[in-house]
Amino acid sequence: MKNRILISEIKTHLGQEITIAGWVDIRRDHGKLIFIDLRDVSGKVQMVALPNHKEASEVCQKLRGEWVIKVQGKVNPRPPKLVNTKEPNGEVEIEILDVTILNEATTPPIDVRDDGREVSEEVRLKYRYQDLRRPRLQKNIINRHKVMLHVRNVFDKEGFREIETPLLSATTPEGSRDFIVPSRIEHGKFFSLPQSPQQYKQLLMTAGFERYFQFARCMRDEDGRGDRQPEFTQMDMEMSFVEQEDVMAINEKVMIGLITALYPNKKIQQIPFPRMSYKDAMEKYGVDKPDIRNDKNDPDLLAFLWVIDWPFFEIDEKGKARDDGGPNWTFTHNPFSAPTPECMVDLMAQKNISSIMTTQYDMVLNGAEIGGGSIRNHTPEALRTVFRIMGYTDERIDKNFGHMLSALGSGTPPHGGMAWGFDRLLTFLENEPNIREVIAFPKTGEGRDLMMGAPSDVMPEQLRELGIKIQN
Ligand code: AMO
Repeated sequence: MKNRILISEIKTHLGQEITIAGWVDIRRDHGKLIFIDLRDVSGKVQMVALPNHKEASEVCQKLRGEWVIKVQGKVNPRPPKLVNTKEPNGEVEIEILDVTILNEATTPPIDVRDDGREVSEEVRLKYRYQDLRRPRLQKNIINRHKVMLHVRNVFDKEGFREIETPLLSATTPEGSRDFIVPSRIEHGKFFSLPQSPQQYKQLLMTAGFERYFQFARCMRDEDGRGDRQPEFTQMDMEMSFVEQEDVMAINEKVMIGLITALYPNKKIQQIPFPRMSYKDAMEKYGVDKPDIRNDKNDPDLLAFLWVIDWPFFEIDEKGKARDDGGPNWTFTHNPFSAPTPECMVDLMAQKNISSIMTTQYDMVLNGAEIGGGSIRNHTPEALRTVFRIMGYTDERIDKNFGHMLSALGSGTPPHGGMAWGFDRLLTFLENEPNIREVIAFPKTGEGRDLMMGAPSDVMPEQLRELGIKIQN
């Protein structure tokens, strides 16, 4: 739009004529004077239509909340007694010279001028495109972008490359249920959406990239909670020729740098981040992600904690009994992890299984798990043994993980990595109670997209093409 300036730039144009455009935040009719607050992505400004600009004044009488308009006006200082020092534009007022209506708006179902905490979430998510107009959500989503940009730049400087990995993939054991996508070409076969890029990022280490990161979409078909979404974002990274300390150190450094640069009001309780073993956490706090804040009333206090020394395996009480009658061992975190170096002998001998420790490290923040990772098994024998301990037959291991075993046997360097729950981290940085407030288009607690109406029926032809019949 020709000559349009942003509302945030108005102050530098005192006494001049300007063009601005945006949404009518509120219109107040004071008889002959009409006051309109105009809002754009950069802020708000008060404008006034005076009766001597007759045409403009008449258009202003018609305006309603959320209409989209373009205004030509003059930037005047406000009379001293009307100055509002709390508002960024509280010292100026726009005298409206000309108004163009760019689009009208139906009466909004929700008020988008407050922070929306009183409005039901169903309505907010159904009309998310309006809900996102509220200043709180604008701030959250724009800050999310800033954090992403910062982290991308830092990892780039550290020699990491952002590499995209597929969404249509094969099922992998990552502790949760997969979302699956039917194949049209091969009826009865399915793709799985990734629960994380775990295998791909390891294969990128085999491929020799040495340092990878990605803002990765992950899909897990699990019940929603305040800190869980079926579709969420990880800041995922992996590096070669490293040990546990190296991966922990770089993630800690990036996290501290990001908070110092973008959230200077936040206070990190302890640097370097303290560490606690899983055993101590359970004994002292009864949970594996203790909240160690020394002042729980301070919303700006960030108490990071590394939880380390996790057992590799646990007995799966709910799992199906094994054919060979052996104990039902399953992994606690990640089947691709390596044991701690001193436990490698026991792992390979499949001995003392309950006391085998993994190289897993979890990053905990104020009592929430905001990230985790490990050093991986980089030899095929060690990975095969993990699956054998879990009762997988060699046939099944070769069928499901043949590609990983073959990659590990083709010259894979030692490697390890970590993934941050990016949405979860942002809820703490933005002082939000749940992750839906920091995601532009989240699903409801029941996993629905109320705005798009998903999940939804599909056309009978689509099902026919896929060879699928719905049984009710
Ligand atoms: P993990 O399964 O621990 O590790 O996931 C990493 C982090 O992602 C976050 N997270 C979630 N956030 C929102 N909604 C969910 N449903 C959800 N599930 C997990 C958590 C968690 O700490 N591939 C490994 C990482 C690795 O070993 O490098 C992995 O995915 O904050």
